[in-house]
Amino acid sequence: MTARTRGAPKSPRVRGAVSPTLTLPDRPIPTALLRRRLREAVVEDWDFSNGRIFGSMCTQPLPEAVTASRAFLTANLGNPGLCPGTARLEEEVVSMLLDLFHGPQFGAGGWVLSGGTEANLTALWMARNASHRNEVVLPESAHFSFVKALDLLQLEPKWVPLDAAGRSRPEEVRRAISSRTAAVVAVAGSTELGAVDPVREIGEIAADRGVPLHVDAAFGGFVLPWLPGAPGFDLGLTGVTSLTVDPHKMGLAPVPAGVLLVRHREMSGSISVASPYLSSPQTTGLLGTRASSAVAATYAALLSLGRQGYSAQAARTLRLTRKLLEGGRRWGLEPVVEPTVNIVAFHHPNPMGVQTWMLERGWDVSSIRTPSALRFVVMPHASDRSISGLLRYLGRALERFPASRRG
Ligand SMILES: Cc1ncc(COP(=O)(O)O)c(C=O)c1O
Repeated sequence: MTARTRGAPKSPRVRGAVSPTLTLPDRPIPTALLRRRLREAVVEDWDFSNGRIFGSMCTQPLPEAVTASRAFLTANLGNPGLCPGTARLEEEVVSMLLDLFHGPQFGAGGWVLSGGTEANLTALWMARNASHRNEVVLPESAHFSFVKALDLLQLEPKWVPLDAAGRSRPEEVRRAISSRTAAVVAVAGSTELGAVDPVREIGEIAADRGVPLHVDAAFGGFVLPWLPGAPGFDLGLTGVTSLTVDPHKMGLAPVPAGVLLVRHREMSGSISVASPYLSSPQTTGLLGTRASSAVAATYAALLSLGRQGYSAQAARTLRLTRKLLEGGRRWGLEPVVEPTVNIVAFHHPNPMGVQTWMLERGWDVSSIRTPSALRFVVMPHASDRSISGLLRYLGRALERFPASRRG
């Protein structure tokens, strides 16, 4: 019996509920058939190569990073005694990133994780356990991974309103900190607008009040260091105690790969547990089994690109972002904020209408609810050609769904 039986839909479209209409075959199916099915599925998935994806923060990874990832696919860093090679590469990755993000010479540390969600969760977990407090002060722009972390860790949010440029307000942060504050969060490259919080001011406030400041630079971390005049955001600033940065976004590693850096390595003691059946007596963090492939891919991406490569990439994606910004303006669209990084959002009364129209024609764009806006992430897979194509289709979409000017 084949796996596709009993009238199972060819490709289920409804998310969530799944009924048991497929049967695990009794015997192996022919390899050729299996591979055909996989090919069919893989071509259904969008890929980055045609440059039409503008709603994702992931991109076409570097070939060298993919090769590195494949070479380590079967290794499990969760059992580090069996993976001394991966463990050494992880240390080297963390060391290079601590240097890039101005960590202290002594006492710092970090891990290669599965992405920004795990890194943000881990940072709050450490802060909660170290402080025995139950509140987190975070900007309204914080990624939804924090909402999950707050729920899992049973922490209470103290939301900080944003200024007109979509950034956290330091004075509101100061007001929100109390004797119950476990941590403050700032964002360097917000998910919706790419806004960079005033981390320097917030760091000074956090240090003054004796609370840790976690910076979520999941997106901005591999862009901001190379943008002339970009605001500071990293461990070099007073008060910043931990930092998330995602190799699988602008770092050009394949998914999944995130990094959490900490100023004080001993902070991790509060999230370590005994792991008697493994090769190390203690394990730190959320996951048991850990993908060595993420470490190898990140290592390969960092060394293949180097500072020059990331700098060129930042300059190129910013140039394309400005091209899109100018093109959007020509269509009468008004940006929500002037882009700092390679994200641009335009006010629009019906972004979902535009998004759906574009999707049906093979273009992935995204939308924001508050304020109502169309959002574009200009990742390295974008090109002059794809931006021109996007603008052409956008112009047609706007004839159907006109933009209303604000201001
Ligand atoms: C600023 C920021 N932080 C965290 C995350 C979560 O990262 P991930 O999806 O890799 O878990 C994202 C995802 O887009 C993000 O934009």
